[in-house]
Amino acid sequence: MTSNIIAISSTLVLAVIVSLTVQIFYFSPIDPLPLEIPPSSSTPENKLQNIIKLGEGVLKNPEDVCVDKEGTLYAATRDGWIKRLARNNEVWENWKHIDSNTLLGITTSKDGGLIVCDVEKGLFKVTEDGFSLFLSQVNGSQLSFADDVIEASDGMIYFSVASTKFALHNWHLDLLEARPNGQVLKYNPYTKEVDIVIDQLHFPNGVALSKHEDYILVTETWKSRVLRYWLDGEKKGKTDIFIENLPGGPDNINLAPDGSFWIALIQLSGEGLEFVHKYKGIKHLLATFPRLYDMVHGATRKATIVNVGTHGNIITMFSDNNGKVVNFVTSAIEFEGHVYLGSLNSNFVGKLPLNSSD
Ligand SMILES: *[C@@H]1O[C@H](CO)[C@@H](O)[C@H](O)[C@H]1NC(C)=O
Repeated sequence: MTSNIIAISSTLVLAVIVSLTVQIFYFSPIDPLPLEIPPSSSTPENKLQNIIKLGEGVLKNPEDVCVDKEGTLYAATRDGWIKRLARNNEVWENWKHIDSNTLLGITTSKDGGLIVCDVEKGLFKVTEDGFSLFLSQVNGSQLSFADDVIEASDGMIYFSVASTKFALHNWHLDLLEARPNGQVLKYNPYTKEVDIVIDQLHFPNGVALSKHEDYILVTETWKSRVLRYWLDGEKKGKTDIFIENLPGGPDNINLAPDGSFWIALIQLSGEGLEFVHKYKGIKHLLATFPRLYDMVHGATRKATIVNVGTHGNIITMFSDNNGKVVNFVTSAIEFEGHVYLGSLNSNFVGKLPLNSSD
């Protein structure tokens, strides 16, 4: 009798183990590679805890922020609004509404208005008159996961496609897979052609142009590095590493007035849990059970931004080390002595004065 029960229960246990293994490895949505994540170094300061919260409660997860020449601040929110705050104003205006809950990168356009990335639809131009989708197909396929965009003074539009394999709602699968599924593309508005600028990137997230427009920078979030693609000069057409081993995954990147760059860094794993990304088996497990993944991911535990010089040197680093005031900061842009912060886990835009001594 007892031995029967033991036999039955061990058969059951075996069946459960076998089916779990099949479930995890056979039905796993990813084909992962091991990933080395540099530990996120903490600095003693918590300067990002000193931010002023702009529009608290009215801005739903503003991933990216931009400022136009007049000093008007714009944010694209998760509920499809492009909201703006005029200089010296305190109230955000509901400027334009795009029927979308997947807006990401935004940038000002030189002939006025904004260019906005929508993960599902493509690239929008937004002006006083309204909005229009000007790029939705690439080579006959839907453009998806356009993440960040920048316009050069010759009119060329450079933008990142973070992943050609996964969607925004399961971006963590792209991280667990850790394969180069992304691209940077160039759209020529005169010929309407789209070309690949850099292929095989590990979640290209932010794009920025240098002050003299002789290169573009693209952040590779999973690789904790930023690549530089030369548009001009003797290295024209070549790609090299601008900065690597960043203490976090670089998200959006923006040119600062002095020619340096601000980069928002997201924490890719919980502190001390970087090792989980080294093992394919753990990755399959995490990809199969989102609850488990939630336990190890670190994006909402911390906020970090860095200012990087043109030689790829970190000049300053500001953090909220335990995410007390702000976390999951995804963009940082400098304008007239302040840095403005977008975040995927906040309902405000952060404003940090740069010259305060505290
Ligand atoms: C479009 O397809 C052609 C032919 O396969 C390829 O050479 C080109 O790189 C593709 N362009 C883009 C932007 O994917």
